[in-house]
Amino acid sequence: MKPVILDVDTGLDDACALLLAARHPELDLKAVTCAGGNVGLDDVVRNTLTVLDAAGRPDVPVARGAAVPLLQPVRMARHVHGADGLGDIDWPRSARTTDPRHAVELLRDVLREAAATGELITLIPLAPLTNIALLLRTYPDATAGLREIVFMGGAAGIGNATASAEFNIWTDPEAAAIVLTAASELDVPTTMYGLDVFYDVVVTLEQARGLSGSPSAELARKLIEKRSSLYQSDGASIGDGGAVCAVIDPSGLTTQPFPVRIELSGSWSRGRTIVDTRDWSADLTSDPHGLSPTTVQVATAVDGKRYAEMWLATVS
Ligand code: RIB
Ligand code: CA
Repeated sequence: MKPVILDVDTGLDDACALLLAARHPELDLKAVTCAGGNVGLDDVVRNTLTVLDAAGRPDVPVARGAAVPLLQPVRMARHVHGADGLGDIDWPRSARTTDPRHAVELLRDVLREAAATGELITLIPLAPLTNIALLLRTYPDATAGLREIVFMGGAAGIGNATASAEFNIWTDPEAAAIVLTAASELDVPTTMYGLDVFYDVVVTLEQARGLSGSPSAELARKLIEKRSSLYQSDGASIGDGGAVCAVIDPSGLTTQPFPVRIELSGSWSRGRTIVDTRDWSADLTSDPHGLSPTTVQVATAVDGKRYAEMWLATVS
């Protein structure tokens, strides 16, 4: 069993990730922390509790975290995830309450326990990185309980929120810069599951229509149907869910180590992950920026079919 924690801004694809993480036999979902992002924090928390109920996992502690980015004014994505963040599918809402701790304190406590037991945790951020930045700067000792960070965010290629930036990074660029810097300083291995692979794990409507017989399967079907309709397509990517697949079965993901910087001041590029794919064995001494001190394993390819089948088998 791989112990994992998800940090989410539940939305439709975060819901795909939660169903997978809550139900896959090789994962031990220790906690879920919430941040504002796709929708407001209250909606994110309610959606997260609801999805975990549907997955049959009311035992998993859920904590409220940052409602807004560190500095960047809030910009949400209701146009992608519906007014309530769960596609307005009117799924019965959970009656469960959150853990009394703030997300950063829950993360601190679970990671410190992991450091004590030696069962190191894979942290899977699927939202703007506000909670993770606060954690790493407030309780750096807690990284002793971290195996690695595998985050959904960024892109070596084009953006989605803007031509240049991916939504999670664009929503809180300062948090992303802090996380990459702190993780590097604290020697936490970090993998970037970015837009370069994000759209490649696709479940067809036909496959989804076979999902029935349990709350998890029914919800999974509705998630794919809603995402497909939003994109006027005959299927939909599980988005954030692919990052969880990569933790379960890393052999389905191709990564390369690249220096990465976050653009914080560009007029048209703020929030961009600048992935430096140049050949640094060549003479680049003319580059005044030099090599970024932060190297990240950047996902460059994914076995989408394998991960889609993993997701379908697990949620059904
Ligand atoms: O850019 C995609 C990311 O932004 C996903 O995590 C999606 O849920 C949204 O938060
Ligand atoms: Ca998300």
